[in-house]
Amino acid sequence: MAPSTPSRSPARWLAALLATSALLPAASAQYYKVDTPDEIRESARSLAYDMMLFYQGNKTGEIPGILPGPPTEHKGDYYWWEGGAMMGTFVDYWHLTGDTSYNAVVTEGMLHQVGPNADYMPPNHTASLGNDDQGFWGMSAMLAAENKFPNPPDDKPQWLALAQAVFHTQAADDRHDETCNGGLRWQVPPTNAGYNYKNTIANSCFFNLGARLARYTSNQTYADWAEKTFTWLWDVNYIDHADWRVYDGGHVEHNCTDINKAQFSYNAALLLHGSAFMYNYTNGSEIWKSRIDNLLTGIMRDFFPEKIAFELPCEGRQGACTADMLSFKGYVHRWLAVVTQIAPYTASKILPVLRISAKAAANQCTGGETGRRCGFYWSGGVYVDPAVDKTSGAGEAMSALAAVSSLLIEEAGPPATNATGISKGDNNAGSRSRGPSQPLAPITTGDRAGAAILTMLLLGGVIGTWSWMSLGD
Ligand SMILES: *[C@@H]1O[C@H](CO)[C@@H](O)[C@H](O)[C@H]1NC(C)=O
Ligand SMILES: *[C@@H]1O[C@H](CO)[C@@H](O)[C@H](O)[C@H]1NC(C)=O
Ligand SMILES: *[C@@H]1O[C@H](CO)[C@@H](O)[C@H](O)[C@H]1NC(C)=O
Ligand SMILES: *[C@@H]1O[C@H](CO)[C@@H](O)[C@H](O)[C@H]1NC(C)=O
Ligand SMILES: *[C@@H]1O[C@H](CO)[C@@H](O)[C@H](O)[C@H]1NC(C)=O
Ligand SMILES: *[C@@H]1O[C@H](CO)[C@@H](O)[C@H](O)[C@H]1NC(C)=O
Ligand SMILES: *[C@@H]1O[C@H](CO)[C@@H](O)[C@H](O)[C@H]1NC(C)=O
Repeated sequence: MAPSTPSRSPARWLAALLATSALLPAASAQYYKVDTPDEIRESARSLAYDMMLFYQGNKTGEIPGILPGPPTEHKGDYYWWEGGAMMGTFVDYWHLTGDTSYNAVVTEGMLHQVGPNADYMPPNHTASLGNDDQGFWGMSAMLAAENKFPNPPDDKPQWLALAQAVFHTQAADDRHDETCNGGLRWQVPPTNAGYNYKNTIANSCFFNLGARLARYTSNQTYADWAEKTFTWLWDVNYIDHADWRVYDGGHVEHNCTDINKAQFSYNAALLLHGSAFMYNYTNGSEIWKSRIDNLLTGIMRDFFPEKIAFELPCEGRQGACTADMLSFKGYVHRWLAVVTQIAPYTASKILPVLRISAKAAANQCTGGETGRRCGFYWSGGVYVDPAVDKTSGAGEAMSALAAVSSLLIEEAGPPATNATGISKGDNNAGSRSRGPSQPLAPITTGDRAGAAILTMLLLGGVIGTWSWMSLGD
């Protein structure tokens, strides 16, 4: 069954709430200004400071690299992957603003989570390890290489090698099989719930890393994998052939034809971002240009209905956005910004929209005791406390930080390559986790859900009109 179409902005429930509730304060004065580069830098600095307040990883006794969580252990709202996404947000923050304040914290966090084989498969998280979770950490390492983020000490794994390690483990035979004619499964260990699901996010992370490694290293092997992965997503109809909507995934026991049509913004944006790297790597090929154009048209139509970021599958209903989804707008803004650098012809279409959207993001950051906390409902024009979505607000804060800091993209250098970069690669990276001699850590009960399973279960419960195939076992 097709999903019900959520109402568009302003969200109907929000409008109803605002119309009837006397509890909400009148829209408070705007805190952030984002009209000039100086205002943007100043606003970003404050947003970054507030974002870091959610991070406990540099305090004594806390674990570097992660946000409070995981929820399955009742330690906080956030899964392992989102710490990796946060590190990437700060790698971009530094690149865009020049503010080095958090670089040491980011380096420590990114190195702490690499795991014993330096490939972002730490045993602590194996029991819920999806290719997407590992992929998000790998993409943050790739970004560090592209942004020329200061290198780790020589005796530690290097950014480029970490990105290669993630990619190489995902390209290895043990992650691939013939079901559905190819594609990566969602989960890594066969014993994890969700191993029978082949989804877009796992494959778009892999595609994206391949495209970026191709451009960075000029090694065609990576480009071949990227091409093959994109083609698989197309052939399996996770990318709609008519209107380029990007769907969530399907199950191997149905040959991946039971497509869950939820459209999460990060799937489409990650494919667009990777396509732009392929476009650039191929010196502007027509096939990648047409993929960029079609994906971009779809993204603008579905996720920027009023030129303001809108998380289509959940934003229309109060409480439907999970902690995962509440961070998606930030990635979309950051990735679209980079697309304008490596496929410059897209800038005139993308930048005006990012400006309007980021301004809307900044305008609603008027909450809390500071009068500058951020919520998620940008197009409503007023602050809505993250409590409506039962989170502490880290994803909401990260999204606003990303949107505002990305306004500086025109002043920032484009992603580096082997010729201009400073990070050292390793063609053998990731080989230590491959092969039967390195069994994955045994499963522990209670933490079988990965980054997105909770997302799906909650969404399935909230949006009852969707038909959910049994997920996992
Ligand atoms: C953690 O990092 C923040 C931001 O850089 C810094 O202000 C704080 O002093 C750090 N705390 C510790 C214990 O290092
Ligand atoms: C793994 O989990 C243990 C127990 O929570 C913790 O002490 C340790 O720091 C974690 N290691 C990593 C790399 O996160
Ligand atoms: C599975 O789907 C693919 C297209 O994705 C098709 O080529 C293949 O024939 C199908 N296999 C079976 C067993 O139906
Ligand atoms: C792109 O152009 C450069 C310079 O002309 C050339 O060396 C390179 O091989 C081209 N790349 C591809 C993938 O065609
Ligand atoms: C590739 O990216 C560079 C920025 O690194 C840009 O100058 C160049 O125009 C891009 N190539 C194409 C074909 O758009
Ligand atoms: C690129 O990578 C190769 C192999 O890792 C290395 O030898 C070379 O110095 C790098 N730099 C350039 C500009 O090609
Ligand atoms: C290209 O990358 C693959 C995968 O890492 C590696 O096996 C191969 O040696 C690389 N080729 C070159 C010329 O570096």
